[in-house]
Amino acid sequence: MEFVNVRGEHVPVIGLGTWQLEGEECRAAVEQALDIGYRHLDTAQMYGNEDKIGAVLRSTPVDRGELWVTTKISNDNHAHDDVISSTEESLRKLGTDFVDLLLIHWPVEFESIRETLDAMLLLRDDGKIRHLGVSNFPPSLFDKSAEHAPLLCNQVEYHPFLSQHKVIQAARRHDAMVTAYSPLARGEVFSDESVLDEIARAKNKTAAQVALRWLIDQDNVSAIPKSTSREHIQANIDIFDFALSDEEHGRIDGLERGERIIDPPFAPDWED
Ligand SMILES: NC(=O)c1ccc[n+]([C@@H]2O[C@H](COP(=O)([O-])OP(=O)(O)OC[C@H]3O[C@@H](n4cnc5c(N)ncnc54)[C@H](OP(=O)(O)O)[C@@H]3O)[C@@H](O)[C@H]2O)c1
Repeated sequence: MEFVNVRGEHVPVIGLGTWQLEGEECRAAVEQALDIGYRHLDTAQMYGNEDKIGAVLRSTPVDRGELWVTTKISNDNHAHDDVISSTEESLRKLGTDFVDLLLIHWPVEFESIRETLDAMLLLRDDGKIRHLGVSNFPPSLFDKSAEHAPLLCNQVEYHPFLSQHKVIQAARRHDAMVTAYSPLARGEVFSDESVLDEIARAKNKTAAQVALRWLIDQDNVSAIPKSTSREHIQANIDIFDFALSDEEHGRIDGLERGERIIDPPFAPDWED
């Protein structure tokens, strides 16, 4: 495993995404991922699966200290008391005394962000979260928020069809990282036969593995692919035994077409 080194932390570059993983399928995927060697898990209050992940965390032989666990505050929990109580509820479900990273899932109520961050700082001072972060924050909002409170991360949609150059620049300005969600464009990376598939075939890898390698080669970037299949969970972490040349990086950069897979519940200005 490789790590993003930021603010004195070593964050595993690949984590398991868990959106739409529910019930037994979720428990099995998380258990398999830990067994295979994943040490980074991504969940959210909105995913409704913190309890299933908690069941695995309670029974796994892996030391809690080796794991990086991220969860996210739901859009209706941005008020001070709701931040505190919902995070405490997340900790109960996850069966852990702390999460490594707590994110504001979406900046739906711009006026309440300071209040939300202030409550998160209290949680950090109480040892219930180790770091604060945000998700889906355009660069200027990230700048403003990072001036108010120390942010470790901005988690955004990022894959070869969507450039996040400005978002990454903003994160680096504040010694923060970017976590790429939907890093496989929800499977669409397999539709690109001209570049990803060609590079993959030449290296005896898949388009998914090439896309993930391209992401994590970038400074301060991690990725959280989601999968239900043991074979794919394994494949998504088997990306440390090959390299991409500068020319191959350039060809993948050229796939950018401003394509967003995820519909936001608000209308951010990503170009600000
Ligand atoms: N912060 C946010 O607002 C936000 C929004 C969206 C997502 N996320 C996070 O990001 C995670 C990942 O994003 P995502 O779930 O949208 O999409 P994704 O990881 O880009 O793609 C998941 C899809 O790709 C398939 N897949 C995974 N690995 C594969 C492989 N090696 N070969 C072939 N197919 C493969 C999966 O199918 P199989 O199950 O069959 O493998 C699934 O259909 C989420 O689970 C969530 O944790 C965060």
